Amino acid sequence: MTEMRLTPLQYMERVAAHFGTAPHAVFVSTFGCQQNEADSERLCGMAHAMGYADAATEEEADLILINTCAIREHAELKVLSYLGTLKALKEKKPALLVGVCGCMPAQGHRVEQLKKSYPYVSFTLDPASLDKLPEVICTLLEGGRRRFVTGEENPPIAEGLPCARRVRHKAWVSIMYGCNNFCSYCIVPYVRGRERSRASGDILREVETLVADGCHDITLLGQNVNSYRGDCDFAALMEKIACLPGDFRLRFMTSHPKDVSDRLISVMAEHGDKIAPHFHLPLQSGSNDILARMNRRYTRERYLTTVGKLRAAMPHIALSTDIIVGFPGETEEDFNATLQVIEHVEFDMIYSFLYSPRKGTPAATMEAQVDAAARAARMERLLAVQNDIALRLATPYVDRTVRVLADARGKQEGILAGRTDTNRLVYFAAPEEMIGQFAYVKITRAEPFALRGELINPK
Ligand code: 5AD
Ligand code: SF4
Repeated sequence: MTEMRLTPLQYMERVAAHFGTAPHAVFVSTFGCQQNEADSERLCGMAHAMGYADAATEEEADLILINTCAIREHAELKVLSYLGTLKALKEKKPALLVGVCGCMPAQGHRVEQLKKSYPYVSFTLDPASLDKLPEVICTLLEGGRRRFVTGEENPPIAEGLPCARRVRHKAWVSIMYGCNNFCSYCIVPYVRGRERSRASGDILREVETLVADGCHDITLLGQNVNSYRGDCDFAALMEKIACLPGDFRLRFMTSHPKDVSDRLISVMAEHGDKIAPHFHLPLQSGSNDILARMNRRYTRERYLTTVGKLRAAMPHIALSTDIIVGFPGETEEDFNATLQVIEHVEFDMIYSFLYSPRKGTPAATMEAQVDAAARAARMERLLAVQNDIALRLATPYVDRTVRVLADARGKQEGILAGRTDTNRLVYFAAPEEMIGQFAYVKITRAEPFALRGELINPK
């Protein structure tokens, strides 16, 4: 007999009632990008609503949720090796529930592997099905069989789910899910489905609540935020949020270079009091041939034009980028073209990745895969070039006073780590009570990837 489906909130109540006063705890492990961090906060929020407390370690947990990443093979191998370490726990505690969530179990071959080789995995949820967590837990607790859930391609966005935020002073706000771009190397469109945007009213309400709660740094998240299409476009959404009162700075990621509009650039320049002067604009390659094979739909010339517009409107804007090294067919000449763009633009920060073939993507079966030694040698060259640039750009910070949001304790006693509005890492001596507050710091030393300075305003 099939039972009528309840809402996620009703399932949460039912699980909480199932446990009654018996203590039960959840441990959430997150791999991958900021979208996953944000998703994990929802998973954790739902678990709390089901009465789970936070477990300090996996050993103390009754439910272990693993939020996984599939962007590169290395990410998947890390998850599988972590999963291996949980086998003994399940043997010791047969009632333990282990759930594998996120991008990895959105791939059929991985689900098959988990079914067969990891019998202690109790359930999987793909990124479009995370709101099914309460239902799945409920059926498992009531004696149901293992579940492997993959959602519809275009599921409605579940609003109003609880969220357990890890820190108060900064937050991620998803504005859209999925991706329609199908860059030829990328698994994301296959595992996260088509683009779906949240309504701007829901986003604005979430930001207002965060700001009222003391949040000072808000990052709007989406695979390609520039193609946000709620009831307005992305530039208009940014403007609406920037007009909200409160002491916060606004960031966003990730942008696709083909979609950066002039309007977005002018909104950023007009609202410099709220919108951080930082733009993450993944270049991937500086060679037009490779960009075409990547299906990126822009040329290096167009990319450089956008950079020129950003700098004309905001001379001190910090730029960061993603580069893939060793894409199939990348010649020395192609790679040199990438280095040229890097030298020309002078990025504050580069996230560089060795190309990793992803099953089911067009690039995985392209001819002329670059061998591992050549990829590694190119990566080394890129890192050396970027190291010099990063130091060159950091040096002028010395003797300047910058606003820093104190984020966390640094490695040394008495030292805090924070970020400038341009997203540079800064270490400075300050009391721990300053974590979560804006501070003004005079920079005394510049290193390629960190600045060091002195607090000048103990607030
Ligand atoms: N191999 C290497 N890097 C990849 N990225 C995406 N897919 C791959 C892949 N198959 C990188 C891109 C993207 C970033 C999030 O990850 O640079 O911008
Ligand atoms: Fe992947 Fe391209 Fe979509 Fe980014 S824009 S998520 S790289 S397919």
